[in-house]
Amino acid sequence: MEEGRMPLIGDKFPEMEVQTTHGKIKLPDQFAGKWFILFSHPADFTPVCTTEFYAFQKRYPEFRELNTELIGLSVDQVFSHIKWVQWIEENLGAKIEFPVIADTGKVAHILGLIHPGAGSSTVRAVFIVDPNATIRAILYYPAELGRNFDEFLRMIKGFQVAEAQNVAIPANWPNNELIGNRVIVPPASDVEMAEKRLQEYECYDWWLCHKALQE
Ligand code: BEZ
Repeated sequence: MEEGRMPLIGDKFPEMEVQTTHGKIKLPDQFAGKWFILFSHPADFTPVCTTEFYAFQKRYPEFRELNTELIGLSVDQVFSHIKWVQWIEENLGAKIEFPVIADTGKVAHILGLIHPGAGSSTVRAVFIVDPNATIRAILYYPAELGRNFDEFLRMIKGFQVAEAQNVAIPANWPNNELIGNRVIVPPASDVEMAEKRLQEYECYDWWLCHKALQE
């Protein structure tokens, strides 16, 4: 990755040591061989962020079943994170099991989590990183809109299926309006393959063929 620019999809996740609610952690080494989702929030003790932490914790077992770890981040002190996660447990009954980075602004700067002219809080950003430490997706959300955590589960499942079965994943999968939970066969790269596609698969045309998901 070029020095000084924000990471993009396809880049390796930058190496860094971070202070978290679970002690010091080295990224991405801590999650070597696993998927991980790093997500930033504007601040502790804010309403939308609290609903987000609750929602992420509820789905944590499902993420772990998918070999996926979670790690939160905001520019708050670790004491604040500790008090906030305690508040969530005492008042909402959810014990936050994933670590939360107490960033001084350094990580936010490296990852591009603070928008110039929009204060010093981190935006709602999401980095999805694969077991080889490659960044596979980056998403940004506005402060007033809480994230849809089912979508991140869908993305992890989609990445894993796409990779294991050498296919692409259609819109709204597994509830696609045209092909349901079926998956898309990669486009043909020559004339012979294009003709074969029509014989081998169900197709709308040679460049839009689909097949059943392998269970
Ligand atoms: C919230 O989490 O509720 C929030 C945080 C920053 C700005 C606006 C809302």
